Formats: sequence, C-alpha cells, structure tokens
Amino acid sequence: MSRSKAVIAIDGPAASGTSSTAAWVARELGYLHLDSGALYRAETARRLGIEDLRSPEVTAAVSSVAQIPEVRAAVNAELRCMAETTDVVVDGRDIGSVVFPDAQLKIFLVADPWERARRRLHQRLQRSATDAEIADETRRLVERDASDATNTLQARDAVLIDTTYLTQEDQVQRIVALAQKV
Ligand code: DC
Repeated sequence: MSRSKAVIAIDGPAASGTSSTAAWVARELGYLHLDSGALYRAETARRLGIEDLRSPEVTAAVSSVAQIPEVRAAVNAELRCMAETTDVVVDGRDIGSVVFPDAQLKIFLVADPWERARRRLHQRLQRSATDAEIADETRRLVERDASDATNTLQARDAVLIDTTYLTQEDQVQRIVALAQKV
C-alpha cells in the first residue's frame, strides 16, 4: 500500500514518553497527533461507564481490554482512517510494526524503568518523588510492561532512542531532524 500522507510512528513502553513526545513533534511539524493509547482508554472507559480516561480504574483495566482482538481491530481501523487525509504522528506500542508498517519514520523510545517512574511521578505529583515512591512506581511499571508485552512490538526498521539521559527537548529535536531527512 503506498500512501500520499506522512506517518511518523512513535512506540515504546508505558511512561517512555511516547505521547508527550509525539504531541511535541506533531506541533513542530504541523502534523496531527493521534494517541492510540487514548483510544484504548476510551473504549475501556466506555465499558466501565467512567468518563476520566486517566482514572486509576481505567488504567487498571485498559491492558486487558487492549488484548481483545476486536478492540485492536477497531482502534487500528480508526487510526488508519484518520491518517488517510492528513499527515500524522501516531504513538503507541505497535504503530510502526502493525498499524502503519509503511510509516516514513519509526521511532522506538526506551528508558530505564527507574527513570520512567521518576518522570511519571514528577508529572503526577508536581514535585520530586521520594526514593520509596519511585521504587513503588517502578514495580508497577515493570508489571505494566509485562501485561502489555504481547502488544508491544518494536518494528525491525525502527530507530531506537534511549531517552534515559536525554531531555525531552533533545529527543524531540532528534526525531524532528530524522523526519526532515526522510
Ligand atoms: O500509553 P497508554 O498508557 O495510554 O496506553 C494504554 C494501554 O493501551 C496500555 O495498557 C497499552 C495499550 N496500548 C496498546 O496495547 N497498543 C497501543 N498501540 C497503544 C496502547
């Protein structure tokens, strides 16, 4: 399948920064940002009768809802449909491998679990987290990685970026520079 609109795929495990990075890259390039995790969260919230996509209840249930083949097929169809008419940056777990194997640029973000936990808590608490809080969050993230593992598929031709020691601005600029070369 050849496509006329650009797709940049940004995948990575929980709290690796895919959504915030994709949003920023999309702003820089004037593309639309599609957050596939938000679509899985929306379907989970609908099933639970809850409205807050980031609530603990949705977060606890979304990984199993995202295992359902019919749910994955519906989310993937929606993403492909939205990408038909506009240039997009799409973030998730399997975007470069399954949803858009023909994407112009594929990025896979990784970061040390402790650092991912630290960043996530900083964002949530708006203060520096203690070591005990980070240790607790690291355990939860590692469990989440395990439950998402079957759907986290790095494309063979993805550019791997380890963000453990990068600022978000650095990683965004790296991706924008790669996008401008393709
Ligand atoms: O990135 P996030 O935490 O908002 O993702 C929510 C859930 O959806 C998470 O359990 C992984 C799953 N997901 C997936 O299976 N495939 C994607 N492309 C994106 C998210």
